[in-house]
Amino acid sequence: MLKTPLFLVSLMLVSELALAEVAASRQNELMHLLRQDCGACHGMTLKGGLGPALLPTQLDGKSTDYLVTTILEGHPNTAMPPWNTMLSPDDALWLANQIKQGIQ
Ligand code: HEC
Repeated sequence: MLKTPLFLVSLMLVSELALAEVAASRQNELMHLLRQDCGACHGMTLKGGLGPALLPTQLDGKSTDYLVTTILEGHPNTAMPPWNTMLSPDDALWLANQIKQGIQ
């Protein structure tokens, strides 16, 4: 009989958790990623650099869907990379909401 590999079980558990909500500890990781990794291009305070500023004023009028898709899939032929191997759709949604409302 085939046994479900352990990593699949944990993957399923992880995606169920991600569906439920973004846990507080994950929020800390995501905020760190936003400042460090996204900040490498968009600036630590998201005021822009190699990539455009990601401040509420710049993002005004851009849909949450557009932001989530941009984060997950990147913009082809630009420096904006896809993050879908590191971020779940819920992670991307959480990040999109953070940049729309502005981080401190
Ligand atoms: C290697 C550099 C680089 C990194 C790292 C990077 N970006 Fe970008 N990003 C860009 C560039 C360049 C653009 C503009 C792409 C274009 O011209 O369409 C962009 C565009 C965007 C946009 C669209 C902005 C708009 O006004 O339309 C969003 C949202 C965004 N990035 C979010 C993120 C987030 C969140 C992260 C981290 C998870 C991230 N980026 C990491 C370079 C980067």
